[in-house]
Amino acid sequence: MHYKPAILFVCLGNICRSPLAEAAFRLEAEKAGLDAHTDSAGTAAYHVGSPPDPRSIREAAKHGIDISAYQARQIEQEDFTRFTHIFAMDRSNLSNIRAIAPEVVAARIALLMDVLDGSGGKEVEDPYYGGDHGFAVTWEVVAMAARQLAKELTS
Ligand code: 4NP
Repeated sequence: MHYKPAILFVCLGNICRSPLAEAAFRLEAEKAGLDAHTDSAGTAAYHVGSPPDPRSIREAAKHGIDISAYQARQIEQEDFTRFTHIFAMDRSNLSNIRAIAPEVVAARIALLMDVLDGSGGKEVEDPYYGGDHGFAVTWEVVAMAARQLAKELTS
């Protein structure tokens, strides 16, 4: 590894899925001894400045990580040069990211689930309108992808 990876996780509001993906990846990077810069953002501005959804905060806490101080932000132009990898949770996020991306981008822009063999093209479903169970499912899928990503970046 000749560069420090910088990973941005992106969803719609930056209050449900991407804060969990960021948290899961921080845990996996730490376990793998990987020095990475990690952040998350939303494509929409609805929740800028807000903490994660209480259900995401509770889910992260179950896995030993406190995300309550995180503040949502919207993806911005500088992110396309700051980050080496930009991962969208779903296809709508991905097309919104691509729509604002500069023509030439060095960063890898992809669906998060594309990092998992056999899950390419799959989406991390939005748990916002459901109950707590959806957040546990979100954790499971983002944690699987985070583990694989940390492994890839350390090998
Ligand atoms: P997220 O979930 O994109 O995973 O943060 C959502 C958060 C807020 C809304 C939709 C999805 N919303 O419509 O406000």
